[in-house]
Amino acid sequence: METVVQTMPELPQEILMDIFALLEIPDLVRAGSVCSSWNNAYTRIRNIGQKKQAQTPCLLYTSESAGENVACLYSLAEKRAYKLTLPEPSIHRRYLIGSSHGWVITVDERSEMHLVNPITSEQIALPPVITIEQVEPIYDNTGAICKYNYSMDTKMSVTRRPLTLALGKLRYYFHHKAHIFYDASVGSYIVVFIHNPFGQLVFARLGDEKWTRLSSSYTNFQDCIYQDGVLYAVTAFGEIAFDLSGPVVGAKIIMDRVSDFYGRERVYIVQAPWGDMLQVWRPGAWINEEVDGHRHEATFEHKMKWMKYI
Ligand SMILES: *[C@@H]1O[C@H](CO)[C@@H](O)[C@H](O)[C@H]1NC(C)=O
Repeated sequence: METVVQTMPELPQEILMDIFALLEIPDLVRAGSVCSSWNNAYTRIRNIGQKKQAQTPCLLYTSESAGENVACLYSLAEKRAYKLTLPEPSIHRRYLIGSSHGWVITVDERSEMHLVNPITSEQIALPPVITIEQVEPIYDNTGAICKYNYSMDTKMSVTRRPLTLALGKLRYYFHHKAHIFYDASVGSYIVVFIHNPFGQLVFARLGDEKWTRLSSSYTNFQDCIYQDGVLYAVTAFGEIAFDLSGPVVGAKIIMDRVSDFYGRERVYIVQAPWGDMLQVWRPGAWINEEVDGHRHEATFEHKMKWMKYI
């Protein structure tokens, strides 16, 4: 059969990119496989790091029947699910403790963290958990880590005996939640991780070998947001700004405690469409659901009774 190859006039890359930036992710991925010029525009959009256009949310889930390494992504825009095969370790057995910019932050059965992009299957290991001072490795005779000692000491509390935990058990106690932020000044990402005991804050840039503690004087961090080199982090006691743009991290309390409620409420920071930062407070109530006899810090749920904007 004779094939006639016609040379089609090409749209300039910038115009292709403007058009592609308006697409929902599934359409964007399809557009990227049309031809090399469209693929180039698609790759460049992805490398910008942040798609400007807000996406219709997708629901990410795993199931036993789909398989150990398969994540299912339900697209609300298309009302259909995609099955995505992801790299080891098993996505079905990981905890998901945060997501943003297309990345999901996971904790595996060794209590180690990865960033994984379910669309592209890219995966990036985050620094080992033993680089945080509360976690001490215990080695077996082959030199492999077989358990962790989890210390609940902080500068503010008295010394207790550490808990000796199996590799997969650490995440029940230690991991609370994580955030990923895009740092436009270096074109890369910052991961901020809130861990126990007492909601402490560490961060890492991609490629770092260890986690860096942000503050040992403040604890009970609940949420944070990053803007122009400054991390705004909130505790039940107030709000602190960490300047991450220089070689030395500066910390400043920018808002004192604003509520008389104490204890179970959760505090979030959100950015309004008009740019203001808001705190959102909501009361927490444990849902008494125990898996394997444990309340999972990483998978707890809170019932919503009221919300308060400040
Ligand atoms: C782990 O903790 C136990 C006490 O709970 C202690 O006996 C042991 O020496 C610790 N091991 C390491 C490697 O820190």
